Amino acid sequence: MLPLIVLSLFLLPPAILAAASDDEYLKLPLLRKSPLPSPTQALALDTRRLHFLSLRRKPIPFVKSPVSSGASSGSGQYFVDLRIGQPPQSLLLIADTGSDLVWVKCSACRNCSLHSPATVFFPRHSSTFSPTHCYDPACRLVPEPSPAPKCNHTRLHSTCPYEYAYADGSSTSGLFARETATLKTSSGREANLKRVAFGCGFRISGQTASGTSFNGAHGVLGLGRGPISFASQLGRRFGDKFSYCLMDYTLSPPPTSYLTIGGARSDAVSKLSFTPLLTNPLSPTFYYVRLKSISVNGARLRIDPSVWEIDASGNGGTVVDSGTTLAFLADLAYRLVVATMRRRIRLPIAAEPTPGFDLCVNVSGVLKPEKMVPRLKFGFAGGAVFVPPPRNYFTETEEHIQCLAIQSVNPKVGFSVIGNLMQQGFLFEFDRERSRLGFSRRGCSSP
Ligand SMILES: *[C@@H]1O[C@H](CO)[C@@H](O)[C@H](O)[C@H]1NC(C)=O
Ligand SMILES: *[C@@H]1O[C@H](CO)[C@@H](O)[C@H](O)[C@H]1NC(C)=O
Ligand SMILES: *[C@@H]1O[C@H](CO)[C@@H](O)[C@H](O)[C@H]1NC(C)=O
Repeated sequence: MLPLIVLSLFLLPPAILAAASDDEYLKLPLLRKSPLPSPTQALALDTRRLHFLSLRRKPIPFVKSPVSSGASSGSGQYFVDLRIGQPPQSLLLIADTGSDLVWVKCSACRNCSLHSPATVFFPRHSSTFSPTHCYDPACRLVPEPSPAPKCNHTRLHSTCPYEYAYADGSSTSGLFARETATLKTSSGREANLKRVAFGCGFRISGQTASGTSFNGAHGVLGLGRGPISFASQLGRRFGDKFSYCLMDYTLSPPPTSYLTIGGARSDAVSKLSFTPLLTNPLSPTFYYVRLKSISVNGARLRIDPSVWEIDASGNGGTVVDSGTTLAFLADLAYRLVVATMRRRIRLPIAAEPTPGFDLCVNVSGVLKPEKMVPRLKFGFAGGAVFVPPPRNYFTETEEHIQCLAIQSVNPKVGFSVIGNLMQQGFLFEFDRERSRLGFSRRGCSSP
């Protein structure tokens, strides 16, 4: 645990809410943009992201730790439509539980009519844009550019610059600021959230700058556990929890789902299975859970419990990340899963597996291949059992070829990840107040 004093020093004052009653919660439509990259591309991008995330797990002061985000991958991401500024400007952001910073592409244009709207935020068009002063304690929560600029605290207009690096070598930098966010509440009303801290990104360099790698997003909505995340800033006003359903992106038309901040959904909550959320002081952004066992067709695999633990140097453990597409398991567990699945699967093994995947099957001419795929079952601390449907872990990589969408994590550098493919079709509730994660297969159909 971090010393309490550090936490209280760096807590941001919560965003101020106008015009919503106590039992309301916020709803943001979640969507998934097509076209999607192939699973092979997703793998390359995930691996890069995870490698980068693992680099972060060093004993560095958390207030300065660089953050990564789904923006680096552009693969299989879920988006939310955020309206910020006054009057509101609508922007599409990646919903990412694996990072903290909320940021949008900003333009310092003088004549903004030359720019296409709804792809970039125009601070000049907003009456509520408020740059953070570099002497403001909030400024110490974002990674600073290097070399770090000097802060002249007697000057009135000294802004708070930040620089945010990505796994693929690209980066975004700009000014840390505050803005009004306009969100829909559960009762259909509009709620104005004042003074939401966010990064106004003026410079985006490297791959992220190109539309393809960024997949059309205009920024990232960080939902991590750090103090600057959207969830942390809004949480205390809304019972400190958020939830979402990531719908199957292969369905057509894609179903609508919501990212919900707050939680008055007692109907859904009664169906949830809970497991405690764990903290790793060396990686304070992530939502860790304690994965305890894996079963294949009901037979529990013999995996030493130590495989799942977070060790003294902060390695290991299991993270729930909406910004990673595939699932990743500690190497020992992964190899056992692959070997067992290979023995149990009732489909012809593809002679040439898709590069990057260890277990692929040929489903040519098979009517319901999902019936032939062994059932995976994940056991979590607290007795919660997660039984994903086969389409959450077997995915088409080429025509008639499906591969196990799980990868190995080197225990020396990584942690296990429950990515967004594995989460599809389940309601996930991140109950930060009670430090627990709830999930339910039946939660997504309820309103
Ligand atoms: C902004 O650009 C548009 C299009 O080029 C032009 O018509 C308009 O006069 C410009 N406005 C200002 C204030 O410069
Ligand atoms: C800080 O800003 C004030 C006011 O603009 C100025 O008088 C002073 O010289 C500045 N100090 C430094 C160290 O730049
Ligand atoms: C899959 O099986 C079909 C039918 O047996 C065969 O024609 C095809 O070549 C196989 N595809 C691959 C990629 O192995």
